[in-house]
Amino acid sequence: GPKLPKLYEGKAKILYATDDPEVVLTYFKDDATAFNAQKRGQILNKGVVNCAMSTHLFQLLEARGVATHWLDTTRDREMRVRCVQIVPLEVVVRNIAAGSLCKQTSIPLGQALTPPLVEFCYKNDDLGDPLLTTGRIYAMGLANEALVAQLRQQALTINQILSDFFQTCGITLVDFKLEFGHDSKGTLLLADEISPDTCRLWDRAESDPQRRVMDKDRFRQDLGDVETAYQRVLDRILAQLA
Ligand code: C5P
Repeated sequence: GPKLPKLYEGKAKILYATDDPEVVLTYFKDDATAFNAQKRGQILNKGVVNCAMSTHLFQLLEARGVATHWLDTTRDREMRVRCVQIVPLEVVVRNIAAGSLCKQTSIPLGQALTPPLVEFCYKNDDLGDPLLTTGRIYAMGLANEALVAQLRQQALTINQILSDFFQTCGITLVDFKLEFGHDSKGTLLLADEISPDTCRLWDRAESDPQRRVMDKDRFRQDLGDVETAYQRVLDRILAQLA
């Protein structure tokens, strides 16, 4: 990584301070974790793919009027982002039932969710990122009603833009996780990353429930060809933007 003061090291990224207090450098690692870091491994070149994909999707969202933390991408694993205070909520949008929704309810895998579900989890590894209710969010003081409404609205806007874009790539955006933060002026910005680590993406040309998976579920469920799947997602995005 670059010779800058390390601010924070997470499971997939490292944040470095820059000489500008408003700017943070994000370094994307190949390290992969699942099930709250109980499963650990590496996905070769993941950092490069996730940095590139996040770059293109943040730019797409900015062009559609969504404020994000992205400033520029300086190297193949490094982007500069605006410094934000992260809202400690993981905002999950679901278009199709999968993952924890199926585990925690009787909704079958693959059921369409119209309108899409927006869910909030507490970003806390020690507690295993538990699903919250709005009542719990207010009781914990994590956000007020206005912020929850703003997060929900932003998440649905982002879902519309990304779902439409992925459809043109021949990919179904099943679900994804977003993080938001406030900059020094108090503006809410989309933060973190948008990648196959944080989205479920299904190949629309495949009907087989294992072959269609183009995201981190290949790693979680030991489906194989993880690197290939990540690279294919990026290749389709690049082809669509070309
Ligand atoms: O596991 P679950 O079904 O709740 O995940 C919903 C979506 O959020 C998936 O796309 C998953 O990759 C993403 N997610 C994430 N980080 C977490 C939890 C979920 O990116 N800590």
